[in-house]
Amino acid sequence: MPAEHPLSRRGLLAVGAGTGAFVAGGLAGATVPGRARSPHVDPVVPFHGPHQAGILTRRQPYALLAAFDLRPAVDRAGTADLLRRWTDAAARLTRGEPLDAGSAAAAGLDADVPLGAGPAALTVTVAFGSGLFAAAGLAPPAALRPIPAFPGDELDPARGDGDLLVQLAADDPIVVTAALGVLRRLARGLARERWRMRGFASPDSRRNLMGQIDGTANPVPADQVLLPRTAPSARLAGGSFLVLRRIRMLLDHWETLPRAHREQVIGRRLADGAPLTGAAEHTPADFDAVGPGGAPVIAANAHIRLGTAGFNGGATMLRRGWSYDDGPRSDGSPDAGLLFLAWQRDPHTAFVPVQQRLARGDALSRYTVHEASGLYAAPGGCAPGDYLGQALLEG
Ligand code: HEM
Repeated sequence: MPAEHPLSRRGLLAVGAGTGAFVAGGLAGATVPGRARSPHVDPVVPFHGPHQAGILTRRQPYALLAAFDLRPAVDRAGTADLLRRWTDAAARLTRGEPLDAGSAAAAGLDADVPLGAGPAALTVTVAFGSGLFAAAGLAPPAALRPIPAFPGDELDPARGDGDLLVQLAADDPIVVTAALGVLRRLARGLARERWRMRGFASPDSRRNLMGQIDGTANPVPADQVLLPRTAPSARLAGGSFLVLRRIRMLLDHWETLPRAHREQVIGRRLADGAPLTGAAEHTPADFDAVGPGGAPVIAANAHIRLGTAGFNGGATMLRRGWSYDDGPRSDGSPDAGLLFLAWQRDPHTAFVPVQQRLARGDALSRYTVHEASGLYAAPGGCAPGDYLGQALLEG
C-alpha cells in the first residue's frame, strides 16, 4: 500500500550529498554531538513551502502518528498559539537545530534538548480534525464530514479521530520519538495527546507484513491530492485530506494459505508484484483476460480489481502508510498490520467509494480488520515566519 516515491532513498541521498539541495548549510551528523557521521550527509527535507512535507515526499522508514485533543477552554487564539509553537519547533527540528530559547523555556525544556537526534530527513506534517474547527468557531469543510461506517469495521474510538494529527517520519526512529516529545511538551496547557501509533517501512523493498509489494499502482497526482487555491478549499490551499485506518492483518490465518490463493486475493504475484496477467510489476493489469476454463485470470473479488480507479469512477488517492507490529494480543495472535494513510482532495469521492466496494466484496477483507479511523484536513505549507493553519485561523 505505501506510496511509491519520486526519489528513492539512495537517489535522495545522492542528490543531497551532491548538490546540497536537501542539506541546510552543511548541517550534518558531524555537527551533532553524540551522533556518528554516516557515510551520507543527513538529509534535510525542507519544512517551508507551498505544501507540507510528508505527503508527496518519499516515504521514510520510521513513522510516529499522534493525535492531540485541544483542552476544553482552548479557542481560536489558543489554537493559533499551539500551531505557532509547533510550526517554529518543526522547522527547527527538521533542520536539526535547537529550539527557540523562549518557547523552550516556557515549556520547561532546555533549548538544545533535541540535539543529537539529527535531521535524518525528518518531516512533521500537521492536520486538523473537525474538533479543531469547532474550537476555533469555524465551519468545517464539507469534505471533513464524517465518513460512513463500513461492513466489518471494528473501530475503537479511543484510537481514532482527535482534534489534531501529527505525522512524524524520518530515517531514524530516535528522531521521530525525540520530535514528538518536543511537540508534546510545547502543547502543554493547550492540548493533550490522545493516542499514538508507531509505523515502519522497508526502505528498499516496499513489502508489507503480508509479504506483498505494496504501492505499485499508486501514482503521485499532485493535482488530485493537493487542494487548489479556489473555493471551497482556498483557506486550505496546498493542503490535502487524510484518511487514516489502522488495519490489523489476520496473519495467523493468512500465513496458512497456499501461495496461489494469496496471489489471487490481490491479483498480483508475490515474487515481483506483477499482475497475474502481466510480465513485470508495472505491466498494466488486464482485467478482461480469462483462463483456459473461462474464469477471469484476475478474480472478480481481487483487491486490485475492486480498488482500481478505472472501476471506481476515477477515484484517486495517494496511499502512503506504514506497517506496525504491537506484539501479541490477549489471544496470542499478532497485533500487526498496516497504518493505512490515504491523501486526497475529497475522501467522499475517493477513499469512501473504494472502501465501500472493498468492504463488501474484496477477497483481502477476509484477512483484515479495520480497528481505528480518523479523518483530517491538512492545511497547506507555510513560509518562514508564518505558521501552519494561519490562513484558516486568520483568513
Ligand atoms: C491491510 C490492508 C491492505 C493491504 C495489505 C493492501 C495491499 C495492496 C496491494 C499489495 C496492492 C497491489 C500493489 C499496489 O498497486 O499497490 C494494493 C493496491 C491497491 N489498494 Fe490496497 N491494501 C490494503 C488496504 C487498502 C484500502 C483500505 C484501500 C482503499 C480504500 C486500498 C486501495 C488500493 C488501491 C486503490 C490499489 C491500487 C489498485 C490498482 O489500481 O491496481 N487498499 N493494495
